[in-house]
Amino acid sequence: MKRFIMMISLVGLFMISCSKKDEATPQEETKVKYKNAVSNVIYNNCITCHSGNSPSANLDLSSYSKVKEATQNGNLLHRINDANAPMPPIGLMTEENRKVLNDWKSQGYLE
Ligand code: HEC
Repeated sequence: MKRFIMMISLVGLFMISCSKKDEATPQEETKVKYKNAVSNVIYNNCITCHSGNSPSANLDLSSYSKVKEATQNGNLLHRINDANAPMPPIGLMTEENRKVLNDWKSQGYLE
């Protein structure tokens, strides 16, 4: 009997630890990554000017490391949030798109 109770509680513990793991996974997945999220915003809004042989402002935004560099050490975040000199030049992107880049920085530039 003792053995049976121990087994049941072990199974219970196992189930608890599993369900905790399941809860943690979606949180990790909602973090902003370059792959898909950031690269989508850049490709849809910036890449026509900021890539190729002579990118505008000599700023190439066609890879993870280049976008990270421009965000970390350049004024990429400043320009996408500056209504007076916005990037892209036609006007500020949606709040949602700008949040992707702002969150990417605060969450540590996940690749
Ligand atoms: C229609 C072409 C065009 C698009 C689209 C565009 N840019 Fe630019 N970008 C320019 C030009 C031209 C300059 C240089 C003049 C200036 O700074 O306003 C520039 C300058 C910049 C600079 C300043 C670089 C420096 O060294 O100071 C940043 C940062 C930048 N762009 C980021 C972006 C980002 C991020 C996007 C997309 C969200 C974007 N740009 C979309 C044409 C573009």
